[in-house]
Amino acid sequence: MMMKVAYLWISIIVASLALEANGDIATKYTAMYVFGDSLTDAGNNKYFIDSTAKADFLPYGMDFSGGPTGRVCNGKILVDFIAEMVGLPLLPSYADVVAKGESILFGVNYASAGAGILRETGYRFGRVIPFEEQINNLRKTVAQLKGQLHGKDVSEYLANALVFVDMGANDYLNNYFQAEYYPSSHIYNLEQFADLLTNLYRKHILEIQRLGLRKFLIVDASPIGCGPIRSQNMKCNTTLNHMVAMFNTRLKSVVHDLKSNYPGSAFSYAPLFQVFISLFDNAEAYGFKVKDSACCGGRDGSNGTKPRCFKNTVPCRNRNEYLFWDGAHPTEAGNRILAALINNTTSFYL
Ligand SMILES: *[C@@H]1O[C@H](CO)[C@@H](O)[C@H](O)[C@H]1NC(C)=O
Ligand SMILES: *[C@@H]1O[C@H](CO)[C@@H](O)[C@H](O)[C@H]1NC(C)=O
Ligand SMILES: *[C@@H]1O[C@H](CO)[C@@H](O)[C@H](O)[C@H]1NC(C)=O
Ligand SMILES: *[C@@H]1O[C@H](CO)[C@@H](O)[C@H](O)[C@H]1NC(C)=O
Repeated sequence: MMMKVAYLWISIIVASLALEANGDIATKYTAMYVFGDSLTDAGNNKYFIDSTAKADFLPYGMDFSGGPTGRVCNGKILVDFIAEMVGLPLLPSYADVVAKGESILFGVNYASAGAGILRETGYRFGRVIPFEEQINNLRKTVAQLKGQLHGKDVSEYLANALVFVDMGANDYLNNYFQAEYYPSSHIYNLEQFADLLTNLYRKHILEIQRLGLRKFLIVDASPIGCGPIRSQNMKCNTTLNHMVAMFNTRLKSVVHDLKSNYPGSAFSYAPLFQVFISLFDNAEAYGFKVKDSACCGGRDGSNGTKPRCFKNTVPCRNRNEYLFWDGAHPTEAGNRILAALINNTTSFYL
């Protein structure tokens, strides 16, 4: 056991030196912990028998080296590219770690498609993992690390890990906007709802911080009105986008506030909303021929108005020319550009 741990530490050091020798930034981080929704889920929902928020079947994953994993994409997702940029390997999903005992040394992905900041968000999918529960899963990982690495090493290790958070879109799509199923729009106006979400978000970030994490990359909510099932005539639905933007404005000031109140930690705000809009508006310049239609699933990869791509649907051939894979999620090609744009607009090498 000790041998194994020592070996892993040596591997990390060797990997760090190799990357430094290449003049790469990387190696700043010991690990990466991911909290989020379908943009970042790499397979946590797939063990829930009752969950419909799953993507562990073809053609999802058709361009991914390991085939379908639960990534809501044809290939790599945003966090895969971010992990590569910071010199880390692709992260295992928490559910896979528990199920298969995989290594957690470079971090864990806790994200869950359909999940949100509020506990009840996405309940109609049957089963998703809300933000709070994702943090409980981190708590279990930290306890496990303490058993493996001992005392001080763990604090230092966690303090040098990157926390990636992408949350909020589903609190609108799979909560507030579904007035027939969720009470939130009857209780709160949009300002109150955005306040509620961002206050809770702040509380959750501080819970993660109390577990010893210090470096946060906070990704704002994406423009939900731009997906093919919601855009029209090459234009994003601005009604939907404005509502998410209200949340983002508040999130940005939460991050600002955290920065000034917790100088021992680092917080970085990644404007996914803004870079996504700019990608959508300039899609052709980035090599995308199609931005208003999904490669697979609705609209108009054939399955109507549902965002998802159904089992065994035949997808488009030229996937690199499509910005969207299904009715609501980018292709691997789209995610690659989004990651590069985040890299170029965000100082997250904290
Ligand atoms: C935008 O989305 C809202 C909410 O779903 C819908 O009521 C509205 O008709 C849409 N607007 C356009 C221009 O599609
Ligand atoms: C989705 O579309 C495919 C191909 O058009 C069709 O075969 C399949 O039955 C559809 N699935 C659903 C659930 O509508
Ligand atoms: C990330 O940003 C750095 C600094 O601006 C740049 O040198 C690097 O090429 C970028 N990486 C990617 C993958 O875009
Ligand atoms: C990001 O910045 C790098 C270096 O400035 C540049 O080469 C690259 O094209 C940029 N990426 C995008 C997607 O704009």
